Amino acid sequence: MRRLIVLLTLSVGVAVGYRYGYEGSGYSYAGSYDVDHSVQYTGRSYYIDYKEPRWCYPLRIDNGNVKCHSPRGPNYRSMFGTRCRIFCDRGYRLIGRRQVECTLTRCWSGISRCKEVRCHTLPAFPYGSYVCSKGIRMDSQCEYICEQGYQLEGDRTRMCLENGQWSGSEPLCVDYEPPRIKCPGPREKVAEPGRLTTRVYWDSPRVKDVADKHSAKFVLKGPPPGSEFGKGEHIIRYVAYDRERNKSSCKFTVTVYVRRCPLLKPPVHGYITCTSAGNNYGATCTYTCEGGYERQGTYKRVCLFNRSWSGTTPSCVLIEINVDVNSVAALLDQFYEMQRLLIISSPSASDRYYSLQINTLQEAACGLELRQVTIVELVGNPPRVIGRIKEQQLSSEIVDQLRQIYYLSRMHFNVVLIDKYGTDRERYIQPVTSSELFPFIDNYLLQTEERAILQLKENFCN
Ligand SMILES: *[C@@H]1O[C@H](CO)[C@@H](O)[C@H](O)[C@H]1NC(C)=O
Ligand SMILES: *[C@@H]1O[C@H](CO)[C@@H](O)[C@H](O)[C@H]1NC(C)=O
Repeated sequence: MRRLIVLLTLSVGVAVGYRYGYEGSGYSYAGSYDVDHSVQYTGRSYYIDYKEPRWCYPLRIDNGNVKCHSPRGPNYRSMFGTRCRIFCDRGYRLIGRRQVECTLTRCWSGISRCKEVRCHTLPAFPYGSYVCSKGIRMDSQCEYICEQGYQLEGDRTRMCLENGQWSGSEPLCVDYEPPRIKCPGPREKVAEPGRLTTRVYWDSPRVKDVADKHSAKFVLKGPPPGSEFGKGEHIIRYVAYDRERNKSSCKFTVTVYVRRCPLLKPPVHGYITCTSAGNNYGATCTYTCEGGYERQGTYKRVCLFNRSWSGTTPSCVLIEINVDVNSVAALLDQFYEMQRLLIISSPSASDRYYSLQINTLQEAACGLELRQVTIVELVGNPPRVIGRIKEQQLSSEIVDQLRQIYYLSRMHFNVVLIDKYGTDRERYIQPVTSSELFPFIDNYLLQTEERAILQLKENFCN
């Protein structure tokens, strides 16, 4: 056995004479130690220094140590057959074999090294931050802190362990504070003119969440500004939720007042029709007199903001027609905007159609009055002509002019309906009945207020 070792020593001696190492082996030679010391080169022969015998180069591990056991005892440390166990320092991890052996080829049977233990870099921490005592090296302790308004849930600290893993798990920053919400002050408003409601506008409540300083990611629930409100007190509630569904609410009141004027009384022989609720601020009341009466004074009155009516109460006075005029225009002027005219023209008082017509109209007198229709009769031919408005006699000149301007024949019975502005609207050559006349007036001639009054008084004539 000894001879074999010597032989091998000689056969590789030339190579050993050079200082060399395995490239990339991870080992490094002991700085103070030369391979030459173990195998001395003296002229032509080699010999082994048995005082300090070497075979493989001595093992040295950076950041670690080796424990070797030589089969020939502690004096033959790197002899063939020596087995070494490799131990890494704390904070270092073994890469490669745990145990190597010095082989016949004067090489160790494996390659090992100690690598520093490092944990991965911790990810950025949402809504908070962390500080580490030694970066990502082993034993580094990282402490998590949350931003204002957030509370830490989970592991406050994590440590880089020997196995390169962080202890525990990433904590959470939880928004535990509800958002702060501030409602606007109470609102008071008067209903809009002519209405019992009003739109009320306000600034949306201000919401602040301490935690949500970057992005105001809260949900606000409540009625939109500009909603319409009726009379009375309304409570407006707003609720704000933050990301964690923590909520807070606030409220304010909206009060709507309806200003009213005293109720108006209709005049004697007249009616009033009012818009809106009749006597609320902005309501308009229109005075109309019964047929045969004319209004003296204000036509319309408006309920003002100060709760009083504009104008004064008008009165309804019996229409007094002055027939003693010298032109048709002067006569018609007196009916302008007040009465409609039903002008009946007949060749004689004994005309069959004429007497039929007069009878029919007498029966319909109430309905005619309601529709503000005045009857004008033009009977006969010159020189015996009779013109009549109720009991008042018209001159033959006026009768003549009336027949001319409204194209009324003197030779046979005919009727014309004149509206409140003097325009002829419908003609009849036979006696007209109320069932024919009234629907025509109701559908085509009535003003809005008149129609309202008519509906009010519909059964008045029955
Ligand atoms: C806010 O929400 C968190 C998470 O849901 C909850 O733990 C906390 O108690 C809430 N805070 C309040 C004041 O309600
Ligand atoms: C209400 O206001 C009108 C017009 O502004 C004024 O003429 C009237 O005197 C006021 N009435 C009262 C009771 O103040």
